[in-house]
Amino acid sequence: MHITICFPGPKPLGWLAGFQAALPNVEFSIWSQGETPMADYAVVWSPPQALIDEQVQLKALFNIGAGVDGILKLSLPPDLKVVRLDDAGMSVQMAEFVCHAVIRHFREFDQVEAAMQRGEWAFRKPLLRRDFPVGVMGLGVLGTRVAKALQSFEFPVLGWSRSAKTIDGVHCHHGDEGFKDFLAGTRVLVNLLPLTAETENILNRETLAQLMPGGYVINVARGAHLVDEDLLALLDSGHLAGAALDVFREEPLPKEHAFWAHPKLQLTPHTSARTLRDETIEQIASKIRALESGQAIAGVVDATRGY
Ligand code: NAP
Ligand code: GLV
Repeated sequence: MHITICFPGPKPLGWLAGFQAALPNVEFSIWSQGETPMADYAVVWSPPQALIDEQVQLKALFNIGAGVDGILKLSLPPDLKVVRLDDAGMSVQMAEFVCHAVIRHFREFDQVEAAMQRGEWAFRKPLLRRDFPVGVMGLGVLGTRVAKALQSFEFPVLGWSRSAKTIDGVHCHHGDEGFKDFLAGTRVLVNLLPLTAETENILNRETLAQLMPGGYVINVARGAHLVDEDLLALLDSGHLAGAALDVFREEPLPKEHAFWAHPKLQLTPHTSARTLRDETIEQIASKIRALESGQAIAGVVDATRGY
């Protein structure tokens, strides 16, 4: 069996060694255009079209992230199995990140810290948790974990997904018919949708304007979900109180982008849930063993749905 690895940037020698240890007796290569033998599996992040065009014997393409938008934009053979990363240590990180952002906003810690830096010992009047319902868009692997974590801090939590869901303590909405009520009942909006034709630009002037006044947006999914200028307009009009943005249309965020200097924005460099090498290798190796012994695996992407 041959497995080829293709990530942008420097040669992933640590990954290669990890895979070799997890799957002894398998041949590995770091993919190089025109030089790599036919592989049975590829492990990728943002692969080029050339890999797909050359590697015509792949049984599956393993993505080392949860989001597969970077793969589905390629021209793929219709029967190629694309497999997304299924948690592998990401959901706990996402729960930490989102709870941190929600709590920082709700407890006004940015203002508390700013006052201390000015040498002011000043208390702020506690805000009411019931006035800060948090709405989670996308109730998949990450969104469900995030919704449950927020609920443990006793925030009112709403959720929105494509199909109907039941999560204890979460007021779940679904589909186009449930979107309006979900938005109207949400003050802090967390985006954990996959990027698909249906969800691109979903955070726009019309949808964000339906949030409760003083709304706050936490985008931890993809930059192309958000219409940047619409967010800026609603921040400047005062309808939105702020936003925590971890993902951007162009990454790294261009130096001249208006987001950098905006006082109502908290920015992080696509770091809310990182791919963890050991957990990822273990998950992919075990799925390859399962496929080789004829078993079904979780995390196979439905290309027509786009996630
Ligand atoms: P997932 O398990 O595939 O869950 C996706 C959820 O979105 C599902 O609940 C799905 O509904 C819902 N959904 C999809 N299309 C929808 C639509 N048109 N309308 C309403 N709901 C829709 O994905 P995940 O593992 O939770 O990851 C979510 C995304 O997070 C990834 O795609 C990726 O872009 C992003 N991400 C970001 C980072 C980071 O560091 N910033 C890290 C990891 C992932 P159903 O349940 O009904 O199918
Ligand atoms: C990261 O953004 C991922 O999709 O895993």
